[in-house]
Amino acid sequence: MDRLEQAFYVDAYLAADGPVVELGVGDGRLAVEAARRGCAMVGVDLSPAMLELCRARADRAGVIDRLTLLQADFRAFTLAEPAALIALPYHSLGHLLTLDAKREAIRHIHAQLRPGGRFVFDDFVVTPERLDRLRQVQLRATYRTAGGGEALLWVTSLVDEASQSMRVVTWEDELDADNSLHRRRYRFLSLSWLDPAEARQLLEQAGFTIESCYGDFDRTPFAAATAAEQIWVARKEMR
Ligand SMILES: C[S@@+](CC[C@H](N)C(=O)[O-])C[C@H]1O[C@@H](n2cnc3c(N)ncnc32)[C@H](O)[C@@H]1O
Repeated sequence: MDRLEQAFYVDAYLAADGPVVELGVGDGRLAVEAARRGCAMVGVDLSPAMLELCRARADRAGVIDRLTLLQADFRAFTLAEPAALIALPYHSLGHLLTLDAKREAIRHIHAQLRPGGRFVFDDFVVTPERLDRLRQVQLRATYRTAGGGEALLWVTSLVDEASQSMRVVTWEDELDADNSLHRRRYRFLSLSWLDPAEARQLLEQAGFTIESCYGDFDRTPFAAATAAEQIWVARKEMR
């Protein structure tokens, strides 16, 4: 992923004045880097396998004592104390496939923040050109497997514009010594996206005040014609 994206989130974690939570912490790419730089982090993820990868990364970096990991859904995590910052990076709100599920998550996030706390997340900006690219079959990488054979990694997406969702299909071809196909394995991932007006509405309905919407991780103000991302910074009111 982009270095600017990593800097954007890690800087926000380090600047927060109080507990910092990353939802969908995954393998700890961002959270462990922030912990390495002194930040106490709470990481939430539904997947025990991802939490295990995160724990292993934190162990290797020698920062396991700065990381609290919770296995929970975006809509149902419970914090020991209200957070100063909750982040949901890498388009991960898109793992929730309906508007209702996203609404529930954003309301829950609002409830888990302390007054004045912030919620930061990003989502895709979907343009016809981007959809065309997603629909193409792309060879992502070639590499050697553990057994020494050659492997090819492919990806394409089935896009359903009406429901603002896609099924990402990834497959790995392992080749024999004579370069014929030995084994093919598929993986599937469903993702959805919000259009910016929906994102604004969900945030405001949950009680957030929108501080900023950026169009990239350089903090360029969002403009529909040029934005690469939609990056929202929202604040829970001080009571
Ligand atoms: C794309 S990864 C992002 C990892 C990390 N935040 C990063 O930026 O590198 C999304 C993560 O969200 C987790 N996830 C997906 N749906 C979830 C849900 N409903 N509740 C909690 N975690 C979820 C997945 O297990 C995965 O680890």
